[in-house]
Amino acid sequence: MLFPLLVLAAPRLASAALAVPFVKPAPCPTCSSPNYVGPNNGSLGHTEFVPGKAFGRFIQIWLENTDFHVAASNPTFQDLAKDGVFLTNYLALTHPSEPNYVASISGDFYGLGDDNYYNIPENITTIVDLLVQNGVSWATYQENLPTIAWAPDFTQTNYYYVRKHNPLVIHDAIANTSQAAFIRNFNDFAADVTADVLPQWMFITPNLVNDGHDTTISYISSWLKYWLYPLLQDKRFNSGEDEDGTLILLTFDENETYSTRNAVAGLLLGSAVPKHLRGTTDSTLYSHYSTLSTVEGNWELGNLGRGDVNATLGNVFGFVADKIGFKNTDTPIASEPQTNLTGVFPGGLSSSNWIPFTAPNKNSTLFGGTKVRPGNQLEY
Ligand SMILES: *[C@@H]1O[C@H](CO)[C@@H](O)[C@H](O)[C@H]1NC(C)=O
Ligand SMILES: *[C@@H]1O[C@H](CO)[C@@H](O)[C@H](O)[C@H]1NC(C)=O
Ligand SMILES: *[C@@H]1O[C@H](CO)[C@@H](O)[C@H](O)[C@H]1NC(C)=O
Ligand SMILES: *[C@@H]1O[C@H](CO)[C@@H](O)[C@H](O)[C@H]1NC(C)=O
Ligand SMILES: *[C@@H]1O[C@H](CO)[C@@H](O)[C@H](O)[C@H]1NC(C)=O
Ligand SMILES: *[C@@H]1O[C@H](CO)[C@@H](O)[C@H](O)[C@H]1NC(C)=O
Ligand SMILES: *[C@@H]1O[C@H](CO)[C@@H](O)[C@H](O)[C@H]1NC(C)=O
Repeated sequence: MLFPLLVLAAPRLASAALAVPFVKPAPCPTCSSPNYVGPNNGSLGHTEFVPGKAFGRFIQIWLENTDFHVAASNPTFQDLAKDGVFLTNYLALTHPSEPNYVASISGDFYGLGDDNYYNIPENITTIVDLLVQNGVSWATYQENLPTIAWAPDFTQTNYYYVRKHNPLVIHDAIANTSQAAFIRNFNDFAADVTADVLPQWMFITPNLVNDGHDTTISYISSWLKYWLYPLLQDKRFNSGEDEDGTLILLTFDENETYSTRNAVAGLLLGSAVPKHLRGTTDSTLYSHYSTLSTVEGNWELGNLGRGDVNATLGNVFGFVADKIGFKNTDTPIASEPQTNLTGVFPGGLSSSNWIPFTAPNKNSTLFGGTKVRPGNQLEY
């Protein structure tokens, strides 16, 4: 039996944009729902708040395959942008989805040029190592993940969880350790908001209809109105102010069109965004690596010695850079690396240009120096 939405899910490039009416997955974003399959597994415990230099909580929400101008001309984005900083020069790093997600966790995509099943070795350091070493609480919330740290894809009528959009579980340093307990589903999210124990670093992946993968910008926009708008008013999510406040990044994994510059829309929202900057734009060159450097700089976590310390692609979000005294690099488009290339880079996950996983560059002193996961044997 073929469900209608399974048809939508199949060939992404051929039929990404089909208009289907928005259906609320739960009565409210802080409500449990039987549509989420997995019951909640109890809320997280309370943790000590670790103050940051520019924000106290970072939440990134990843949407899918939307060209910059499509997002920029959408009324919901324009409405949200009135309260935030619109990043007009934000690059995805390659195509397709999975390598972009992976890069946002460990600072490289290791030559990956497809969306297949991979395990990144346990000795590759991730942002979670840096957070945990510094006592900063974290979790990822994956809509329709059936149980905590579930490994394969999960398909159910109208609701799809895909592993390729869950970069935390792809890294063995997280999935094969006690940190796996922080790979949670949206019923766990409801429990954590309700108990007022949301962590200080969060990665949020909506399912394949809500993130626009199988739908259109208008579906995303309905989901944002249903999910994000009320949460922006909820002090348990958008908590604190200024340095103690919440910084939310709304972004897209990649531009839909491979033959053009791989720029996506990025929107900074939340109570940490300085009031005088709300409703402004920022044309500094950022990339998915900026999510790492911004967090590392905010809490002085140390660095991963990969894309996070790349002078071109690792710029720190502007107002944060100002607060931590970081000097961003201004790179004209003509001299930036092409990030719309696929499967041409060598690396441990490349099928055509395989080389062993490379060592991080341990020379960087940024944010307290390069940290290497125990068990990492690589030297250069
Ligand atoms: C993304 O793709 C669209 C094609 O729909 C193209 O017009 C655009 O230049 C690309 N890059 C950006 C920055 O949007
Ligand atoms: C709940 O969490 C515990 C420990 O973190 C784990 O062993 C168990 O499998 C989880 N249950 C579900 C349904 O995810
Ligand atoms: C980590 O877990 C995955 C999936 O269970 C397994 O395939 C892999 O071998 C494990 N890696 C290590 C280093 O134990
Ligand atoms: C990548 O985008 C550039 C424009 O920025 C274009 O000239 C080039 O052909 C694209 N590359 C591919 C492989 O499509
Ligand atoms: C930054 O990354 C790009 C793309 O991988 C690469 O071409 C460039 O050499 C890197 N720059 C530095 C300073 O490492
Ligand atoms: C790091 O510094 C050492 C010593 O100066 C140098 O030999 C090495 O090439 C540097 N490594 C990288 C990746 O820049
Ligand atoms: C990771 O561990 C494997 C197996 O123990 C080893 O072969 C490899 O060199 C290590 N890689 C790094 C990044 O240290």
